[in-house]
Amino acid sequence: MKRDSKTRYGSISKTFHWLMAGLIGWQLFKFGDRIAEGEHWVGETLVPWHVSIGTLLLVLIVLRLAWVITQRHQRPAHDPAIARLVKAGHGLLFAGMLLMPITGMMVMLGGGHGVSAFGMELFAKSEEIAWAAAIGNLHSPLAWLLTALIIGHIGMALIHHFIRKDDTLKRML
Ligand code: HEM
Ligand code: HEM
Repeated sequence: MKRDSKTRYGSISKTFHWLMAGLIGWQLFKFGDRIAEGEHWVGETLVPWHVSIGTLLLVLIVLRLAWVITQRHQRPAHDPAIARLVKAGHGLLFAGMLLMPITGMMVMLGGGHGVSAFGMELFAKSEEIAWAAAIGNLHSPLAWLLTALIIGHIGMALIHHFIRKDDTLKRML
């Protein structure tokens, strides 16, 4: 089934979830630049794709949010005792997925570097733009916050599956 239902996520939501989880995992290897200034295998093979994959993620999150809006009345329900907490947690993950590429763009534009994705120039090199650089300064702190949220999110998924033994993980698989 393509659409979501009250008991499970449909194939479109699942594809968005796992494709984007994989690409975001890839993006987090950018932290590897902190080790030996990125002069290692990770820094030389995965990290050079950071701007291209980040731009792709910006397109994907816009499409995903549009899809979530169309499915909002038919998504799996959560335990009423913690439903608000779950919604807030997922809301923060969505906010992180939207803000990371936007602030990343601002790092590049603020520094006057322009933005190219997969060999295509989206914004040409220019003068430095102070306001964009100021927004770009949030990219790194947000990356740490998103990482903490993701760790909590994965931890909760595993608690549901192995300790509470409910179908929370299965309905996303
Ligand atoms: C979901 C998308 C993205 C994620 C998860 C992400 C994640 C990260 C992480 C983890 C770092 C390392 C921060 C640190 O060591 O403190 C980083 C740095 C960086 N990112 Fe991204 N990024 C994303 C999108 C983008 C995009 C779209 C661009 C550019 C168009 C971009 C440009 C940069 C740049 C230039 C840096 C190095 C400068 C800095 O740390 O401020 N990122 N990113
Ligand atoms: C191994 C990694 C991951 C696992 C095991 C996992 C597991 C799950 C599960 C089981 C659900 C359904 C929860 C429910 O119905 O209450 C879910 C939903 C969700 N996950 Fe993940 N997840 C992972 C990675 C990620 C990442 C990296 C992100 C984004 C940064 C993310 C964002 C979301 C969001 C926003 C939802 C809400 C449903 C939707 O609209 O897609 N997940 N995840």
